Amino acid sequence: MRPAASSVIVVAGATGRQGGAVARALREAGWGVRALTRSPDSKAARALAATGADVVHADMSDRASLDRAFAGAYGVFSVQNPAISGVEGEVRQGKNVADAAHAAQLQHVVYGSAGTGAPGTGIGWWDSKLAIEDHMRALGLPLTIVRPLAFMELMTDRDFYPPVSTWHLMPKLAGGATPIPWIAVADVAAVAALAFAEPERYVGSDLKLAAELRSLDECRELYAEVMGRRPRRFPMPEWLFNRVASRDLTTMWRWLGASPPPGDSDTLRAIRPEALTVREWLRRRSASGARPG
Ligand SMILES: NC(=O)c1ccc[n+]([C@@H]2O[C@H](COP(=O)([O-])OP(=O)(O)OC[C@H]3O[C@@H](n4cnc5c(N)ncnc54)[C@H](OP(=O)(O)O)[C@@H]3O)[C@@H](O)[C@H]2O)c1
Repeated sequence: MRPAASSVIVVAGATGRQGGAVARALREAGWGVRALTRSPDSKAARALAATGADVVHADMSDRASLDRAFAGAYGVFSVQNPAISGVEGEVRQGKNVADAAHAAQLQHVVYGSAGTGAPGTGIGWWDSKLAIEDHMRALGLPLTIVRPLAFMELMTDRDFYPPVSTWHLMPKLAGGATPIPWIAVADVAAVAALAFAEPERYVGSDLKLAAELRSLDECRELYAEVMGRRPRRFPMPEWLFNRVASRDLTTMWRWLGASPPPGDSDTLRAIRPEALTVREWLRRRSASGARPG
């Protein structure tokens, strides 16, 4: 049964990529959104408030701030970023959110995870998510896991330094012909919103989400077709990249090159047939007028 649309969902990471998209999708579906941020006066937080979200100060490292933020809410979308907090910080924060959700007796937790959902990959920020998931299951939380692998935004968003990462090191380490499971963040968010709307269908699900499997060579061609130029490439040695970015990234790309494709697009297409393909994502990005990275 769909809960009352006036119910409130707490959104972690709401000023960020995934949480921001989830907050927008939930507002569009008529939910009340309580958006967590450490900086309520930031530009992103003020933009969220303008959508009608209730922006509240909370730090996922500070359990008491979460207890205050979760009071009276229906559910929570939980996501952390190890690139900001380190993997140990990520696990601490993820467990704090789970503990606060349990204490507040929230009725639905949707967790923004990643990876394959199985141990043994040697990728620190996939294992950290398994530790958080184990903790949530041990608490008996009503849980839906959304598990994307590679965001299409990696090809375009400047924050990700695509000329160095996606177009130079990733093909070198993963292989240009290796199929990569891609998804646009807006489609991850749409599935999260759907899960909140249909708890009877989605509580207990672990959804491996990919809209399309495409190799980096194919993506480069699609990029050139849509943008009218090949993506910029900026060579950087791996050792230098590992100094400025997490080593988990290069470990993950090597793993992708050495492993069978982790999942297919069947799960997402069954839930959301209109999920963007890589070509559609690039077209949308091009039409937005924002200069891709
Ligand atoms: N990149 C990919 O292709 C990919 C694919 C699959 C999964 N993932 C996973 O996606 C996650 C990152 O998501 P994202 O890209 O949406 O992150 P993001 O855009 O960097 O956003 C991070 C958010 O976390 C908030 N935050 C950080 N530390 C906090 C704290 N201590 N307390 C409260 N809020 C805090 C920030 O808010 P304030 O600064 O406003 O406090 C910000 O809104 C990672 O776990 C990554 O492994 C990434």
